[in-house]
Parts: sequence; C-alpha cells; structure tokens
Amino acid sequence: MSGPAMFDGARYELPTDDGGTLIVAPLSSPEGERLGAVFAGIDPWAAYGYAASTLSAFLAGHEPGSRRLALSVDGAVAGAAVVRPGWLRGPYLQFLAVVPEAQGRGIGGALLAWMEREARAAKERNLWVAASEINTGAIRLYERHGFKQIAALDDPAWDGRVEILMRKRLT
Ligand SMILES: CC(C)(COP(=O)(O)OP(=O)(O)OC[C@H]1O[C@@H](n2cnc3c(N)ncnc32)[C@H](O)[C@@H]1OP(=O)(O)O)[C@@H](O)C(=O)NCCC(=O)NCCS
Repeated sequence: MSGPAMFDGARYELPTDDGGTLIVAPLSSPEGERLGAVFAGIDPWAAYGYAASTLSAFLAGHEPGSRRLALSVDGAVAGAAVVRPGWLRGPYLQFLAVVPEAQGRGIGGALLAWMEREARAAKERNLWVAASEINTGAIRLYERHGFKQIAALDDPAWDGRVEILMRKRLT
C-alpha cells in the first residue's frame, strides 16, 4: 500500500467550479497559526467554543503520518486541509476549512476530487471523513461528492457531541 507516500510535499494545481485554479501545497507553520485564529471564529469550531490557540497549534504543528495542506487561490491562502494517508485502505480527511470570503467557489469540492484522484492512483479502496452532526453544510458537500454516512459516533472528541463517519468507496 502506497498510502503514506501520497500528498508528499508536492505542489498541485487543480481547477475549481468558478474557472479558477486551486493550488494545494504544504502548509507553513505561520500560515497554520494565522488560519487557526480565523477558523476558531466560524462554525463548527465557534459553536463548540474551540480556542483560537488550540486550532492554531493544531494547524501549525507537525505529526508523523499527517499532512497539513494550504489551499490557495488568486495568490492567497484561502483554506487548509489535514489528510492522514493510508488510514483504513484509504486516506482520512481529518480537517477541511475555507475562509468565509472564499467559500462556495468550489475549493472544498476540488480538494475532495484531488484526494480521490490521488487515492485511486495509489490503488486505495476508500476515502474517509468525519463531520459533526450539526455541520449539515459539510455533510451535504461530502454526500454530493459520493460519501455515505456509515456510523454515528458518540463523544469521540467531546462529551455530548456526535460525529458522523462518512466513507466513499473507490472499488
Ligand atoms: C465545508 C467547506 C470546507 C466547503 O468548502 P467550499 O469551498 O465552500 O465548498 P464548495 O464551494 O466546493 O462547495 C460548496 C458546498 O459546501 C457546503 N457548504 C458548507 N458551508 C458552506 C458555506 N458557508 N458556503 C457555501 N457552501 C457551504 C455546501 O454543501 C455547498 O454545497 P451546496 O451548493 O449544495 O450548498 C467550507 O464551506 C467551510 O470551510 N465551512 C466551514 C468549516 C467546515 O464546516 N469544515 C468541514 C468540517 S468537516
């Protein structure tokens, strides 16, 4: 299985719905720090009361087996994704967010299409993501891209909070 070799620091150029180009590249720690503060101000993280410092530390950090990616359009970083390749015969999208001004332009969709392309090239069987049950917009996005809800997980990260595990079969 070639999972961990995927998303290995290269720079990718992808088309978005609105005719633009999304660039996927490694996320620098300063950009991760900055974006963490932005994302703490929007749902679902605002609704759950995440501290900006917590999200900034997560996005600015480095972990073995995890890729922090910057999503850039028009020369500016407009979002971030964290992918764990080779999670369960396929990559797990651990984090995805686009700054409010850039939402709805196809960046999230382009990232999902890219993840699928890379996973298929690596002969993986699945794509995985989990979304909070209150995050109906994100769940709709994943369903539109072929993910199915396969389990509701009680309290995996926080008491009283349900996460919906979603899977897209590639085989
Ligand atoms: C979910 C998110 C990553 C999608 O990225 P995006 O670049 O806006 O997505 P696209 O433009 O490719 O597709 C838009 C779809 O995203 C979903 N969406 C969720 N929140 C949205 C928002 N504020 N504006 C527009 N679309 C939103 C909708 O399903 C929309 O599809 P629709 O046309 O059926 O309504 C982005 O809206 C975001 O960062 N939201 C806040 C953080 C979040 O919920 N992250 C996911 C955690 S699992």
